[in-house]
Amino acid sequence: MSKPSDSKNDAPPEADTLAFFQDLEPPANDFLQDALSGLSAAPKTMSPKYFYDQKGSQLFDAICDTQEYYVTRTEIDLLQNLIPILNKLAGPGADIVEYGSGASVKVRTLLEGLDNVSSYLAIDISRAHLINACRVLADDYPEIAIGAICADFTAPITLPAISREKGRVVGFLPGSTIGNFAPKDAKEFLARASKMLGEGGALLMGVDLKKDPDILNAAYNDAQGVTAAFNLNLLTRMRGELGAKLNQDNFRHRAFYNGEQGRIEMHLESKTEQTVQLDGKEFSFSAGETIHTENSYKYGLEEFAALAESAGFRAKHAWTDPKGLFSLHWLEVHTQ
Ligand code: AVJ
Repeated sequence: MSKPSDSKNDAPPEADTLAFFQDLEPPANDFLQDALSGLSAAPKTMSPKYFYDQKGSQLFDAICDTQEYYVTRTEIDLLQNLIPILNKLAGPGADIVEYGSGASVKVRTLLEGLDNVSSYLAIDISRAHLINACRVLADDYPEIAIGAICADFTAPITLPAISREKGRVVGFLPGSTIGNFAPKDAKEFLARASKMLGEGGALLMGVDLKKDPDILNAAYNDAQGVTAAFNLNLLTRMRGELGAKLNQDNFRHRAFYNGEQGRIEMHLESKTEQTVQLDGKEFSFSAGETIHTENSYKYGLEEFAALAESAGFRAKHAWTDPKGLFSLHWLEVHTQ
């Protein structure tokens, strides 16, 4: 199929080696407004999306290299081992759609391992990174049509027709990104994805598993303190970008598994009674009070399959690594 002629109206010149580019970039995050309302809430909270400035993204990469954070390396191993099976399931000429593609590293395993991948569409909110990552892919895989949509991947998106063959549409959401959503929001995302992927479509997802809390607690409290630095970087951003008056040394990283909710919670805990100033307003903390900065939900295999089934998928296959740390799910769109 030729390149759709109207697809590049909003493409910046850097995107012109791509088969498709669409800009649905949401209005800039209002860090200040979100910080003010998060600090005014009870309990205090901040969205994990603010972790990922340049420093935060580097720290996240460093987390993936810690001994305790098994998630990334376990998933990559699992993906590589499953390629022959995934190849059978996807069939030749697949069209891959990645939700929250980041640096598009993991998808290379699929682009290289599956037969004659026809197209790859990356959806990510970080525009410059998205375009860069896709340009590199377009260079590395000239036979695959590479497209990009700058958008919040939970937004309603219509898939463009960039495919060169009639292959299966395969969604890809690795990394247990879904863990940041509360189960009801995860279900909402899945319901939307099943509609977007359409009849015959499939979704390959990486989902972190419930397990011995000691393993989970260690993964979010690495001995080198990388996760702590990642969490505390939010305070650095508030000082640097919002001019918040606060003493970072008065806060500590706290992460623990909440068994009742089935999630890791990350918090910034106030070591003492103190006041933080932001935008001319004062926010007081008692000793031990926290800002809740992230939830990372964990699922049982059956539990996640049931969630997917409730959202318009057939949970066809699920695999885990030999230690049962992490899972990959193959879901197929189920139309009545
Ligand atoms: C990127 C959301 C999957 O929840 O494990 C890692 C983020 N936070 N260590 C996760 C994270 C602290 C990560 N996700």
